[in-house]
Amino acid sequence: MAVTAVVGAQWGDEGKGRIVDLLARQADLVIRFQGGNNAGHTVVNEYGTFRLHLIPSGIFHPQARCLIGTGVVVNPGALREEMAELAAAGVSLDGLLISERAQVVMPYHILFDRLHEQRLGRRKVGTTLRGIGPAYADKAARTGLQMGDLLDPDYLWERVEQLVAWKNEILTSVFHQKPLSAKAIYQELREHGQALAPYICDPLPVLDAALAGDSHILLEGQLGAMRDLDWGTYPYVTSSSPTAAYAYVGVGLPPTVRLRVVGVAKAYTTAVGAGPFPTELQDEMGEFLREEGGEYGATTGRPRRCGWFDAVAVRHSARLSGFTLLALTKLDVLDKLERVKIGVAYRLENQTFDRVPMTRLLQRVEPVYEEVAGWQTSTRDLREYDQLPPAAKAYIARIEELVGVPVGLISVGPERDQIIYTPTRGSNPVMNPA
Ligand code: IMP
Repeated sequence: MAVTAVVGAQWGDEGKGRIVDLLARQADLVIRFQGGNNAGHTVVNEYGTFRLHLIPSGIFHPQARCLIGTGVVVNPGALREEMAELAAAGVSLDGLLISERAQVVMPYHILFDRLHEQRLGRRKVGTTLRGIGPAYADKAARTGLQMGDLLDPDYLWERVEQLVAWKNEILTSVFHQKPLSAKAIYQELREHGQALAPYICDPLPVLDAALAGDSHILLEGQLGAMRDLDWGTYPYVTSSSPTAAYAYVGVGLPPTVRLRVVGVAKAYTTAVGAGPFPTELQDEMGEFLREEGGEYGATTGRPRRCGWFDAVAVRHSARLSGFTLLALTKLDVLDKLERVKIGVAYRLENQTFDRVPMTRLLQRVEPVYEEVAGWQTSTRDLREYDQLPPAAKAYIARIEELVGVPVGLISVGPERDQIIYTPTRGSNPVMNPA
């Protein structure tokens, strides 16, 4: 048994989907452990180009069962749309499983997400408006529903009737909106429940069977540690924890099981949504990274904010998630540059930070940069570490040094085979560590 978690090391959109897709070749069970359809994992393979929002990126591998874990918030309508899209492309959904304990994103969560953002005005979080925050808030307030509840008509009606009446009071009196129909919501959820019933299950027997056998289990995170509810740029964060530690909770894995953790980081940095981003470039260089890297949100289409690699942020993520190794994605986006910068610390007045401070300070810091030479040659067709230009190797080595974690995988393009494994850690360092 081997358990590997793939988590984001920055602000999300690091390319986790393609790394999971790659590692899932050898996986028996792939589990999403948090987030919801705010995620947008782009996967390019022989079936086409897909933007997965809820379904684990292992779905393209017929041997892998794919579980939407308990820590996830599921919009059942969005899930069914995603399933239909995959089925239409000829992808089998036979291996799909949904934890009966995963939370349901209700139609009013989406509404409240928008209303809360409007209320926040210029201090808005810049959420994906998918209802993620309100769904997790209701989970914590014990006023949510779990996916298995959709299978029991009487229980479902009892809960929906009470919850919608309550939400209607807030909607009408606080936000001056029209009330929602409990009956219509119930009917919609019932229909989703009937359609999803074959996939909804108790996840623990599935997990236990995998743990008992000689299985490879892959845990798929969403977003990155800088958007972690506790350790990120609060309040400009998501409402769950994208760190590897949370995988234990979100999956139902005992903490005595040892994880290998692959932290995924872009060779530069991007973010969507508001909040501090010290190495952001609001100039031509930022524009270059956006265009060269195709940096537009997979879920919302929003242009991503772009900047230099922030070693402080990635070290923070590595510290929180205990990275075994780093997967460095999109190295090729930097191919044309003469000089490349790395953020190595932050400065505020006469104070220097080598750790991520609280948001009230982080929003005022200036990055401290180190500049290295660019390699000005295409890396897209390279498949061996030794073929990389010396300047690219030096850039990678400096990142390893600053983050304190070895780089095991480097991606140099969106196609499945545009990957370089570093030499010291074998042909597939993740599943078969040296
Ligand atoms: P929420 O998760 O929709 O509540 O959004 C909270 C913050 O996380 C916002 O800054 C979003 O832009 C950001 N966010 C949520 N999902 C993603 C993602 O998949 N990629 C990048 N940023 C995301």
